[in-house]
Amino acid sequence: MDLQLAGKRAVVTGASEGIGLATARVLAGEGAHVALVSRRADVLEREAKTIAAEYGVRAIAAPADLGDLAGCRHAMDTALAGLGGLDILVNNAGASVFATFEDIPDERWVADLELKLVGYARMTRLALAPLREAGGGRVVNVAGNAGKQPLTYHMPGGAANVGVLNLTKSVSMQVGPEGIFVNAVCPGPVRTTRYDKMIDRLAVDWGLTHEQAEARYVADLPLPYVPEPEEVAATIVFLASPRSAYVNGTAVTVDGGITRGI
Ligand SMILES: NC(=O)c1ccc[n+]([C@@H]2O[C@H](COP(=O)([O-])OP(=O)(O)OC[C@H]3O[C@@H](n4cnc5c(N)ncnc54)[C@H](OP(=O)(O)O)[C@@H]3O)[C@@H](O)[C@H]2O)c1
Repeated sequence: MDLQLAGKRAVVTGASEGIGLATARVLAGEGAHVALVSRRADVLEREAKTIAAEYGVRAIAAPADLGDLAGCRHAMDTALAGLGGLDILVNNAGASVFATFEDIPDERWVADLELKLVGYARMTRLALAPLREAGGGRVVNVAGNAGKQPLTYHMPGGAANVGVLNLTKSVSMQVGPEGIFVNAVCPGPVRTTRYDKMIDRLAVDWGLTHEQAEARYVADLPLPYVPEPEEVAATIVFLASPRSAYVNGTAVTVDGGITRGI
């Protein structure tokens, strides 16, 4: 199936590694021009150069800290200047803590929610005018299955994911009629730096080494392995494409069946 992404212009946040980088690469592989957003300018420059050389698309670095409005504005302005417009926004940047409830200070709750929930809202708000100018487009919000199945050791992240799902639905109802479809993807575990941090946390809770904790975690999964970021990116990219017609205001779970519910 041709995803009809050739020449589309996409902003991907949290694109220096993990799910975001994989998403930018898959989009570029389909012929989309991409702007990579995260804090590490040197990494973004390197990845953008590689993507442009590999896929023959425009790939630009738009470094910014998305933890406040000024950073979001700067990222969007840089991306729009480099891409010349916008058809797709993938909100993905997140760095919520894995810790025991009573060890999480207020400042951490506020920072984690500001980056993932308020950051997604800010980037979406900034994207609407250029998406309208393009005649429509797609917003894909990477949430997480902890928004539906709460975890004891992932509370700010779980709360952010619940908020992202609510935001997804609310905004989709407002802008869907304009041809801007807004959807979410809820990954389960994905083999990234974040996943390693989660296993580190479980190792502490269970009194095991990292390797032992991972073996115990994976043994309990319905599908006995942890997917690579590219596997989740494929679903994100489909939802970002014009071929995801009439899909609006929903969340697609990509967790190998962990979530007890459909
Ligand atoms: N991996 C999983 O198992 C899993 C499961 C469920 C949901 N998710 C969700 O999927 C998304 C991506 O996760 P991942 O596993 O790919 O994470 P990751 O490998 O840790 O990458 C996180 C990305 O976010 C960027 N980032 C962090 N803080 C930022 C900030 N203040 N401003 C701008 N960018 C920032 C990082 O880049 P810089 O360091 O360069 O800023 C990096 O590119 C997150 O929203 C996460 O909650 C992941």
